[in-house]
Amino acid sequence: MTKPLVVVTRKWPSEVEQALAERYRVELNATDTVMSGTELKAAFRRADAVCPTVTDSITRDLIDGSSVRLIANYGVGFSHIDLAAAYEQNIAVSNTPDVLTECTADLTLCLMLMAARRAGEGEREVRSGRWAGWRPTHMLGRKMSGKRLGIVGFGRIGRAVAYRAHHGFGMRIEVFNRSPIDTEALSTVGAVQAPDLAALLGRCDFVSLHCPGGKENRHLLNAQTLGYMPEHAILINTARGEVVEQDALSDALAAGRIAAAGLDVYDGEPAVPASLLARDNVVLLPHLGSATIETRRAMGFRVVENLDAFFAGGQPPDRVV
Ligand code: 8YV
Repeated sequence: MTKPLVVVTRKWPSEVEQALAERYRVELNATDTVMSGTELKAAFRRADAVCPTVTDSITRDLIDGSSVRLIANYGVGFSHIDLAAAYEQNIAVSNTPDVLTECTADLTLCLMLMAARRAGEGEREVRSGRWAGWRPTHMLGRKMSGKRLGIVGFGRIGRAVAYRAHHGFGMRIEVFNRSPIDTEALSTVGAVQAPDLAALLGRCDFVSLHCPGGKENRHLLNAQTLGYMPEHAILINTARGEVVEQDALSDALAAGRIAAAGLDVYDGEPAVPASLLARDNVVLLPHLGSATIETRRAMGFRVVENLDAFFAGGQPPDRVV
């Protein structure tokens, strides 16, 4: 029997690519160039499975009339895939949960500290030769330990952030989540569940976003909701760019309506608005949440598990549709 044809849209860690090549007929992307819409469409018309990433927009146009039976996403977030179209065409979709939780949570804490302690600004000063030496009032940031952290979306990553912040930094945790969270999960991190987003935003010193992207949460943080945050508050986004209305955030930072922000994701990335690039009180990272050797490798092997289960006639363990 011919092996299934698997198309991988970006370059992956070599040991995972090797494992794939041993099991399947594979088309890898050695140059790591983003595939065009035309190339993706052609791939969806010859492959049995496509393994995209956040940089590929998997639209209805690609899905309708395709030969693909499984879209095995390399990543946990899937707002770049038209799930309704996949469902209608009876195409399975899987993702890679769990394996990136710790590293994404670690990077969230990194951004919180960087934004609060002005680390990006400080590094720019040292590198530019502008540092004039220690002085009592130099580059004062804000303390993080013991402050109140609001977590928007209490899934795996939100919980891992809460754990680190509470047990490592003695932070008091408040959670906004659409469904009720059981008391045990809350008490593990000394958390309370806020009745609504406005209440959480109004009370917290730090707010970190961990909800899914997509239409449902588009611009959850906008001019109005950012306005609920106190002037000393810091906003962190390691979730999806579309959750924050970027112009409203730039305005709030420029006007001092919030103190700082730390961003790892952008609406329409890799483009970053000039209004954000120009500001010192925002830390900007290039979507590094899961970017460790260990995690990117584990994400790849998680995709392999999903492909193997599916092509053996079973359910992919991380099937989302
Ligand atoms: C991934 C992420 O690297 O998994 C996610 O949802 O945001 C990133 O950490 C990226 O999405 C790969 O598709």
